[in-house]
Amino acid sequence: MLKKITGLLNRQKVTEDENTLLQSIDRNRLPKHIAIIMDGNGRWALRRGMPRSLGHRAGVESLRSIVELCSELGVKVLTCYAFSTENWKRPKEEVSFLMDLLIEYLDKEIQELHRNQVKINAIGHLEELPQPAREALARAFRKTENNSGLLLNLALNYGGRTELTDAVVKIARLVKNNQIEVSDINENLIKEHLYTAGMPDPDLLIRPSGDFRISNFLLWQLAYTEFWLSDVMWPDFKRIHLLQAILDFQRRERRFGGLIKK
Ligand code: FPP
Repeated sequence: MLKKITGLLNRQKVTEDENTLLQSIDRNRLPKHIAIIMDGNGRWALRRGMPRSLGHRAGVESLRSIVELCSELGVKVLTCYAFSTENWKRPKEEVSFLMDLLIEYLDKEIQELHRNQVKINAIGHLEELPQPAREALARAFRKTENNSGLLLNLALNYGGRTELTDAVVKIARLVKNNQIEVSDINENLIKEHLYTAGMPDPDLLIRPSGDFRISNFLLWQLAYTEFWLSDVMWPDFKRIHLLQAILDFQRRERRFGGLIKK
């Protein structure tokens, strides 16, 4: 009983803190694009004596609440690293669990996402995903294609090096077919041949769970992104953590290699 009451009090405390943070956020200086490496699901589960799959399932709950908050706040783009080109090295059962979870997430959440005007997109080599996952994605793209709210980018079978290699190949073809000159190649042309063409670069990268790595994520796009690292495992990552990250971001001085005029 006592435990139950303490639990309730904690929850009320979190809500109060959340409201305080919400009020402190400057809505005119929100990060336009937030990128998240959703790490720590496996460790979260193992520490609780549970199979890794339950960590991924709990990770979906965090994804759900963070998408909701970004949408409420008016963030323009949220890119979440859900499956890397290297994640195929995991046991077959885990890969197939993650693919099923993707389908379940899309099918279950689609109405709510659509109601909130979220537009679903995915970056990565989608053609290599199992067919049922590709079909669930196609349904989600179709349903939300005209939405004007948050753009939710799921990075699936995504690798930063593969993305850059793809861009080089596409540009080399343009040169080979005499569609452009070598002298036309510049940063803007490269940017427009990335999977994120037309999107702003991430302002804020969040990596929970204590590791300090980029893990082959958005290698080009993160050049001047502010990093926010935390020990919290992704399944424990709640709205309050995102609010803390945004507030911290708003206190930073971004110079992009230049100087701030005083
Ligand atoms: C990394 O944690 C996480 C992943 C490889 C998968 C991320 C997936 C989710 C958060 C579920 C939502 C996904 C979809 C497809 C909607 P890890 O397993 O590497 O954790 P560890 O470093 O503790 O082992």
